[in-house]
Parts: sequence; structure tokens; C-alpha cells
Amino acid sequence: MTKRLGVLLSGRGSNFEALADSVDAGRIPDAEISVVVSNREGAPGIERARARNIAARVIPSKGLEREAFDRQVVALLQEHRVELVCLAGYMRLLSPYFVAAFPNRILNIHPSLLPAFPGLESQKQALEYGAKFAGCTVHFVDENLDAGPIILQAAVPVRDDDTEASLSQRILREEHRIYSEAVTLVLAGKFKITGRRVTRTET
Ligand code: GRF
Repeated sequence: MTKRLGVLLSGRGSNFEALADSVDAGRIPDAEISVVVSNREGAPGIERARARNIAARVIPSKGLEREAFDRQVVALLQEHRVELVCLAGYMRLLSPYFVAAFPNRILNIHPSLLPAFPGLESQKQALEYGAKFAGCTVHFVDENLDAGPIILQAAVPVRDDDTEASLSQRILREEHRIYSEAVTLVLAGKFKITGRRVTRTET
């Protein structure tokens, strides 16, 4: 049975596009992206979704209380019978209501090796801190910032001549790769969560 994904974004949408490419190429088997949602008008990711004939909706979050907004998003995801929610540059914390609606069914991609450098401008944080390795993390989402159990990570070296842009680009290539891998793993159900540890299983 085709698994239905929902993607939430606030901006550019390159991770969404990488997931869509992986679905099209069969790297994420038996899946489709059923709907893309943005909380921001004018998010380029919405145009990218429409260009691929994927249903795309903007639900403006501005001025709304967190749970009231999340109720609208959850209702839309449920309308589209979404089974797995992928946050892809979605600049909002989720309410407990949202998290409870999709238990262990919400993933996020973050451009650092968590728990280092959560929050905004992680690549800049890594560079300024003087880290020699940076990277990205796909994790389950709870109501805290960049905090749920880690599914996959990829590390990249920080070079002496790196700028925020060059480091971000090196990390982004890995983001696009491991997000699809993590989605495939979770959809196949071949993992277990023990405390904070996510480990692979055979079935
Ligand atoms: C990515 O670096 C992602 O890790 C972070 O926000 C950025 C979104 O980029 N959460 P894009 O919109 O997917 O191109």
C-alpha cells in the first residue's frame, strides 16, 4: 500500500525536493507526497510543490496561538490521510496536540550533529565555535526544539577556508541524502526506540 507523506516547510524547500526526487526515483519505495504545507506566504517550497503537481497549501501562522494553528495543520494532514509528517525547514515548534496526533510519525532534519548547535544558524554556530566536524541529523520530533530521538546523522569536515555558505552547502548535500534514507527506514518500520536510542531491526 502506498504510504502517504506530508511535508511541512517555511522556506526554500530543497529538502522537500530531495524527498520528492527520492519518491519519484523509487529510493523511497511505495510512498507518495500527498500534501505540502507552509506557514508562510510566499515560501518558495510551495511553488516547487505546485510545479510538481503536489497539493500545496499555505496556512498562515502569524497571530495565531500555537495549538489553534496546529489544529488546522493536523486537520489538513488528516484530510489527506498522511501517515508520516516530514518537517523540512519548518520554522515552528509543534504543540503537544500535534505531537500526540502523530506518535513517532514526525521527522525533522537539522543542519548540525545534535545535540550540538540546536536552533537557528547551526552552521554558523559550528564555524564560530571552531568545530572540526559538522553535519546533519534526522530525528523524531517532540515538543522541544531539535530534541527527539536521533534516527540518522552524517558528518562532514569543516575546512580552514570554509565560510558559512560553503559549509552549509556541504552539509545540505548530506541532508538531502540522509533524509530520504531515514524516511525509508521509518516507513519500513525496521527500527525500535529504547529510551533515546533508535536502532535497526530486521522486521
Ligand atoms: C535545512 O538546512 C534544514 O536542515 C533546516 O532548514 C534548512 C531548510 O532548507 N531545518 P530547505 O528549505 O529544505 O532548502
